[in-house]
Amino acid sequence: MGREHLAASGSAEAPIEAEVLLRHVLQLDRAALYAGWDRPISEAAWDQFQRVLAERGRGRPVPYIVGQREFMGLTFAVDERVMIPRPETEVLVEFIVEWMGRRERGNPHVGSGRSAGTRERDAGSRIPDPGSRLSVVDVGTGSGCIAVSLAQLLPPAIVFATDISVEALEVARANAARHRVGHRITFLQGDLLAPLPPHLAGRVDAVAGNPPYVPVSQRAALPREIRDFEPPVAVFIGGDGIAVHRRLIAEAPRWLGPSGLLAMEVGAGQADAVAGVMASDGKYARVRTLADYGGIQRVVAGERAASS
Ligand SMILES: C[S@@+](CC[C@H](N)C(=O)[O-])C[C@H]1O[C@@H](n2cnc3c(N)ncnc32)[C@H](O)[C@@H]1O
Repeated sequence: MGREHLAASGSAEAPIEAEVLLRHVLQLDRAALYAGWDRPISEAAWDQFQRVLAERGRGRPVPYIVGQREFMGLTFAVDERVMIPRPETEVLVEFIVEWMGRRERGNPHVGSGRSAGTRERDAGSRIPDPGSRLSVVDVGTGSGCIAVSLAQLLPPAIVFATDISVEALEVARANAARHRVGHRITFLQGDLLAPLPPHLAGRVDAVAGNPPYVPVSQRAALPREIRDFEPPVAVFIGGDGIAVHRRLIAEAPRWLGPSGLLAMEVGAGQADAVAGVMASDGKYARVRTLADYGGIQRVVAGERAASS
């Protein structure tokens, strides 16, 4: 019944969404739902199911209704304060993990097993000092999905996560605590890299970012799930959509250590333009693009050039 209701309201994923919403209402996993498929549900549960179907029918995305979304095999709490993590962003995380692994293996002065004797924190400051540990910055952390995944997958690394949105940082902090990596991530409110502590200048191993990249001019063409529910500051940007990428390309070299990495997610069709800006900046080497699982060039990355 839920499937028909959602299909009638235009949802392309009606069968799976109805199942997810029913499991949410009944608080059952998939196996338990199907094991008890013939069992009648209570009147209260039925009423709640009707209510969530109606919410979905009005366009509210399923992850906001159920309050969570999977990313990199981890469950992240989400609500309207943050953008819903997308599967294509996993390409960015996987690339950074692989790149950091190579950096750690290639440089005896950073990484795992070397945290003994390093300073966890600056004397008199609550901002950690990476010492000889790998360090990574997640710009525009939103739900914290990139920062938390990186902290989980790179146990020696120290992570800094920034966002312009105070509300998003509340969600990100809660997700870091949920996954027990809160002590390894420093959350900072402000514009792009500006809130980073000055002692990080020239020492960051990698800057990761999934900036807003949908041109405001395309707003009307977007599905209402995005247009009417996700935070505009997370989704939209003026002009051609790559203004934040341009700023990150200009600002990152100040923070990156020798051959440190800047890797950014881009929208469909933006990769060549962003890679072009990076290549012509003069401060980057090994500029490249990576495709997502749908074959769309989704990540642009480059390393701080030795001469910069
Ligand atoms: C596309 S969302 C990405 C969220 C999350 N990193 C992810 O991948 O799901 C962009 C994020 O950047 C933040 N943001 C937008 N402009 C910013 C700025 N100038 N400085 C810092 N963060 C910004 C938004 O609040 C939002 O959380």
